[in-house]
Amino acid sequence: MSTSILVASSDEHFREMVRENLLNVPNSRLVAEYPEVASNLYIRVLQDLERHPDCGLIIDLASDPAENLRVMEKVKQAAPHLYIIASNYSAEGELVIDALRSGANDFLTQPIRRLDFRDAIGRFEKAPKHAVSTQSRLGKVFTFIGTKGGVGTTTLAVNFASVLAQRKSNAVLLDLDWVANDACMQLGVQPQYTLLEVGENLARMDQALFEGFVARDSLGFFVVGPPDSLENQGYFTEPMFRDFANFLVEKYEAVVIDGGRRISDELVMSAMQVSTTVFLVVTQEFASVRNAQRYLAYLMRMGFNQDQIKIVINRYDKKASSDFASLDQIQQTLNQQVFYGIPSSPVVVRAINRARPFVGNREAAPDLDRAFRSFVDKATGAKKAVGETA
Ligand SMILES: Nc1ncnc2c1ncn2[C@@H]1O[C@H](COP(=O)(O)OP(=O)(O)O)[C@@H](O)[C@H]1O
Ligand SMILES: [Mg+2]
Repeated sequence: MSTSILVASSDEHFREMVRENLLNVPNSRLVAEYPEVASNLYIRVLQDLERHPDCGLIIDLASDPAENLRVMEKVKQAAPHLYIIASNYSAEGELVIDALRSGANDFLTQPIRRLDFRDAIGRFEKAPKHAVSTQSRLGKVFTFIGTKGGVGTTTLAVNFASVLAQRKSNAVLLDLDWVANDACMQLGVQPQYTLLEVGENLARMDQALFEGFVARDSLGFFVVGPPDSLENQGYFTEPMFRDFANFLVEKYEAVVIDGGRRISDELVMSAMQVSTTVFLVVTQEFASVRNAQRYLAYLMRMGFNQDQIKIVINRYDKKASSDFASLDQIQQTLNQQVFYGIPSSPVVVRAINRARPFVGNREAAPDLDRAFRSFVDKATGAKKAVGETA
């Protein structure tokens, strides 16, 4: 059996030290690195626990012990059986006791010595294993990122939220593509309030206020996005987004995000960090595949793991000419399996012109509809994979 570790620290050297030390522990691996000990840490941990239920967490308290203890406490509340190793420069009695009270199972003094590290991992390995509940009560977050403009990012996000709503899932569609603001356009809704008002009212946000605020699509999901007027870029900051995301995953079953294509944008990065799954939307155009390669490399450098990121080919054509990349070429270039291929259909542009999602009209393009629904099945784990990229 292998030992899986998560590490949270704002100190790059600390994370590096953990990485290096784990190399000396047989059968151990680092499954996620969080570059911050932030208020949304528990969401990220819960999501990683779903993939790796027997993980332990190493958390560095040094940057801001009082605040980081609160963060750790929240993680422990969310995942009571998670084994936590806290770490700080001082091992003063008070500090260690506080860490244990806030949920730590063990404590490591910095700078961490190789032997101490190994011993701590040894204690974790010997600790009784509780099956950490893999079905968290938090909503799932699905973020769509385009590897080029016009690849269908908004179309996929809008229809994904629509299928979830048709299945009676309590869902929110969030548009973070500040410039395009296309999600509302594709749905034909003109919300009175936007993310700016959400930001202004975060302190008193609750479900009633939120639902009174945002637009509701006729299929039943809620939609919120940037203001339509381009000059009003406004003031919706990354810390605001984090609080808002915490609220959303606690209250809704699914949050679908149109992340546009600005992958290095602060808000988009923050959204990807709390995502159950990030879908990189590519087409068979070489320019899109090449960008996907750059995006993947960037995400790996930012501490994402490959199983969090799924490649979706939109407008997939198995018989495309050699001017376009084949499935094999895409998989080889990206060094990753393609998660799904969605076919092209003239019905999509017609649906957009009518400002209604194409999944609202199942007869118009049965093949597209079927493919898209099995994509949603696979993405949500509703059914076993069917169709795949066929
Ligand atoms: N599966 C598809 N089949 C046919 N046309 C599509 C498909 N997906 C997207 N499109 C077309 O591509 C255009 C761009 O889609 P959009 O979702 O706005 O892309 P993005 O958000 O990536 O810029 C849409 O106007 C639509 O007509
Ligand atoms: Mg778009």
